[in-house]
Amino acid sequence: MNTIAIVGATGAVGREFAVVLGQRGWRPRRWRLLASPRSAGQTIRWIDGEQCVEALTPEALRGVDLALFSAGGSISREYAPAAAAGGTLVIDNSSAFRMDAGVPLVVPEINPEAARRHRGIIANPNCSTIILALVLWPLHRACPVQRVIVSTYQAVSGAGARALAELESQTRDVLAGREPRPQVFPAPCAFNVFSHNSPLDDDGYNLEETKMLHETRKIFGDDSLRISATCMRVPVRRAHTETVAVEFARPISPDAARDILSSAPGVRVVDDRRSQRFPTPLEASGIDEVLVGRIRQDLSLPDGRGLKLVCAGDQLRKGAALNAVQIAELLR
Ligand code: A2P
Repeated sequence: MNTIAIVGATGAVGREFAVVLGQRGWRPRRWRLLASPRSAGQTIRWIDGEQCVEALTPEALRGVDLALFSAGGSISREYAPAAAAGGTLVIDNSSAFRMDAGVPLVVPEINPEAARRHRGIIANPNCSTIILALVLWPLHRACPVQRVIVSTYQAVSGAGARALAELESQTRDVLAGREPRPQVFPAPCAFNVFSHNSPLDDDGYNLEETKMLHETRKIFGDDSLRISATCMRVPVRRAHTETVAVEFARPISPDAARDILSSAPGVRVVDDRRSQRFPTPLEASGIDEVLVGRIRQDLSLPDGRGLKLVCAGDQLRKGAALNAVQIAELLR
């Protein structure tokens, strides 16, 4: 690839692209770091030194071989189709095209073949979905999953760089006895837990919860999968945690699940009952693997068809930048 553009290079995922692309040896002839006109002319630390940020325009995407978009759905809708029509391979982190029938939704460990059917745009799934899907998939292949009840404990940086700054400043405010003033989130995020800040549908589910259902079905190619999610924000900087109850078609033991997950790509089992060492967002931060542990039988399903587990994954990395780069690597 001669020219690679990062759309949203100054954002939380944009910065993570620099880390992931650098570590994985991507060195195109030219990087184009694109963001809003507010950031144009700014220099930011990129892989091999400082690089200048340019304003995103259709012209800035001309001649680009690969564009990694992470600037929100409306920017993707406005710029990605024309870029793709002009020959750029677009890998889009937003939800703009994920459920379009002609756009592959890809987790390379699960459905790499879908990436090869692209028509210029490939969608990167929602971060909570990737973390769940990566752990469910190897179990599903061994023993079909019928129903999943999942609850998320999502880090604030999933809502972007401003949200992370809000957690840090609010934490300082509260500790100094000052009233927290939410700007990015609808509720104070420091020392608080609240429902995910995405719009609610008529049934009372927020968008993050419905994404987990529909996107997992599309990635697995299985519309019969039943998933019920509750998505919450917690005052954690980075990495999402999820507690999961899985109902299978047949009985499956925790030992069998541990064995399957131990050899699953992209997953690391952290399940030491003796020392109570289990997945945490701190341990999951900055690493490629999704951690899984607390694997135990669901005793509310007496026939042994249920398992419960906890997973934690870095939503900026496997949940966003790393997954997108792995998709690009499938097609390099
Ligand atoms: P900027 O920093 O110039 O606002 P995050 O997800 O961390 O909030 O980051 C969002 C990213 O999307 C940032 O890089 C941001 O750039 C970029 N962005 C926001 N609005 C636009 C826009 N109108 N055109 C291009 N990039 C945008």
